[in-house]
Amino acid sequence: MAARKVLRMGHPILQEPSAEITKFNTAGLDSLIQDLFDTMRVEDGAGIAAPQIGVLKRVVIFGVEGDNPRYPGRGYVPTTILINPVITPLDREMDDNWEGCLSVPGMRGLVPRYTRVHYRGYDQKGRLIERDAEGFHARVVQHECDHLDGVLYPQRIRDMTQFGFKEELQTKMGC
Ligand code: NI
Repeated sequence: MAARKVLRMGHPILQEPSAEITKFNTAGLDSLIQDLFDTMRVEDGAGIAAPQIGVLKRVVIFGVEGDNPRYPGRGYVPTTILINPVITPLDREMDDNWEGCLSVPGMRGLVPRYTRVHYRGYDQKGRLIERDAEGFHARVVQHECDHLDGVLYPQRIRDMTQFGFKEELQTKMGC
């Protein structure tokens, strides 16, 4: 169990759809989740998806508790293991906000996401998780679940002038 290398945009694995987990409560699944947590913490991520460490399985983790230096002041997201997730928008409203991704290091982009979503999935023991989420929490879940369908956030950007290196975008990002 250890932090793993994060694949970067362009690697073909990041463009592949991931497979559902069919067996819960296994040593292999527990060790995958431990590696995801170790990797997310080393990289200060708000979340990470299994394909980012080269595993094409429908497993994501996320959580922002306290101050994350990559996402200052963006709000609380409960630490969650989510397997075989399904996201349903609660209405049509979307908003734009800045995102980064451990697979797109040093970059930020302005991405539209549903403001309010319902999500459901399972934890590592196979227990059902069902929640409504909004704002940053809803955004993080949508971003991580996109990875399971081979989609990275730059593919969702509508205006490519709102994509670039974090240091160069600081004025636009307002921080
Ligand atoms: Ni990402």
